[in-house]
Amino acid sequence: MKILIVYYSMYGHVLQLAQAAAEGVNSVDGVETVLRRVEEFVMVNRVIDGNEFASQIREKQRDIPFCSLDDLREADGILFGSPTRYGNMAAQMKQVIDSTAGLWLKGELEGKPAGVFTSTASTHGGQETTLLTMMAPLLHLGMIIVGVPYSVPGMLHTEGRGGTPYGASTVAGARGELIPTGEDLEIARAQGRRVAEIAKKLRG
Ligand SMILES: Cc1cc2nc3c(=O)[nH]c(=O)nc-3n(C[C@H](O)[C@H](O)[C@H](O)COP(=O)(O)O)c2cc1C
Repeated sequence: MKILIVYYSMYGHVLQLAQAAAEGVNSVDGVETVLRRVEEFVMVNRVIDGNEFASQIREKQRDIPFCSLDDLREADGILFGSPTRYGNMAAQMKQVIDSTAGLWLKGELEGKPAGVFTSTASTHGGQETTLLTMMAPLLHLGMIIVGVPYSVPGMLHTEGRGGTPYGASTVAGARGELIPTGEDLEIARAQGRRVAEIAKKLRG
């Protein structure tokens, strides 16, 4: 069985959550991760060319293939990871979702479990709004939304960091200077594991 993790990340935080989610998926017997990134916009690539930190992160992801419609079609479950952009998913990720009309017409994603995860610069910068709005198109596609239950360690907390019932998350800092905490990564692992386990149960 295959769980697709498709993500977009400019400064590496969502990438780290994606890698943790992959560990969670791979911890389930008979399930493997297919890790895919979202292709960057040409215009944004030009800006990244002039930014040393973003160029390094782009280079780090060089060997991760771009997500294709076949990747989405062939997956038994999918996790979508996007940084927040004004409280919503990044346009790069939305473009992938908006390319699924052919799959929607045939109901090819219907019944598949889906999880979402995100990163914001600030504590109240829109983790929940991003995650909730990412779910809307997935519901149109007939996917079964998988969140993170409060029985997962680290979910009940009051510090300014990630970890929501809507999906894993982290706080990147205004200049991307923070790294995901151990608990943020553990919650991403738990979400990956949960999507994989549910996909397995749904397949019977
Ligand atoms: C156009 C734009 C809009 C953004 N909007 C928000 C926002 O609404 N709230 C917030 O906390 N961070 C916002 N950010 C910061 C990003 O969410 C942050 O850089 C990201 O979480 C880092 O993830 P990454 O390292 O995976 O790229 C924005 C960044 C850009 C470029």
